[in-house]
Amino acid sequence: MIVGFGLVLNLLLLLVAANSHRGKHAAVVARRMVNIESNLHFNSLRTDGTPVSLIEYYVSSDACPDVEGLSNNGNPVLLLSKMSTSYKNWRRNSTVSVTIEKEKWGHFDSAMRKPRGNFFGTLKKLDLSHSDARRLARHFVIRHPDARHWLPGQDESHVHDTEWFEFQVESVYFIGGFGDRAYIGNISGEVYHRHLGCDKIVDPNEYLHLGDRQETAKLLDSASDRDSSRGFFQLIKSIVTQY
Ligand SMILES: *[C@@H]1O[C@H](CO)[C@@H](O)[C@H](O)[C@H]1NC(C)=O
Ligand SMILES: *[C@@H]1O[C@H](CO)[C@@H](O)[C@H](O)[C@H]1NC(C)=O
Repeated sequence: MIVGFGLVLNLLLLLVAANSHRGKHAAVVARRMVNIESNLHFNSLRTDGTPVSLIEYYVSSDACPDVEGLSNNGNPVLLLSKMSTSYKNWRRNSTVSVTIEKEKWGHFDSAMRKPRGNFFGTLKKLDLSHSDARRLARHFVIRHPDARHWLPGQDESHVHDTEWFEFQVESVYFIGGFGDRAYIGNISGEVYHRHLGCDKIVDPNEYLHLGDRQETAKLLDSASDRDSSRGFFQLIKSIVTQY
């Protein structure tokens, strides 16, 4: 009887540990997805309470380590126009969330198998120094070349009403893929924000050839030191190391 109880207890503990491990792994996947993707759906409310969801550009703060004034913890950094519905709805009713999904690659890829998450939190207007804003703009334009036409405070800018925002992630509802295999559930902001680098990956089966990738990343790293288009190499590096 006692032995049976001990066994059950051990199994339960094992289950709890396995689930928290899956949650942590899901946080790694979520944070990388945010770093690699660059479009999000900005979910806001109309005056009548109807939700609307519109595409907006972002760059992960993880991709902008040299910009002071960002949290550098995986929060998405957005450029919003004051004329946009997203901005207006946020101003009127600050209840917003963002949805990010890993892009589908080609016709036969399955969107249902891909990770995606709804990120809850608050939008904060950024107040950056001139040089930090320029550094941020550089990272942003690598992901979104067309956005150079509406950067804030640019002389060549066609639109003069954009502002930088950081979406401060407080929790994530994450769907890793199909439910029988992937993690589906909540990830706390604390777990999401923790530094989750490549060295922390615990499941080698899912990241075969990681060694080779790290070598490639190192090569790219040394190349990027010599090259002025550093952000571009950083982007390639993150694609190589993270996928
Ligand atoms: C936003 O709208 C929702 C739904 O109509 C409402 O519950 C909430 O209180 C509003 N929030 C603000 C800050 O006005
Ligand atoms: C995730 O969190 C929300 C809000 O706290 C809750 O309503 C929901 O049931 C949770 N989902 C899961 C799968 O735990």
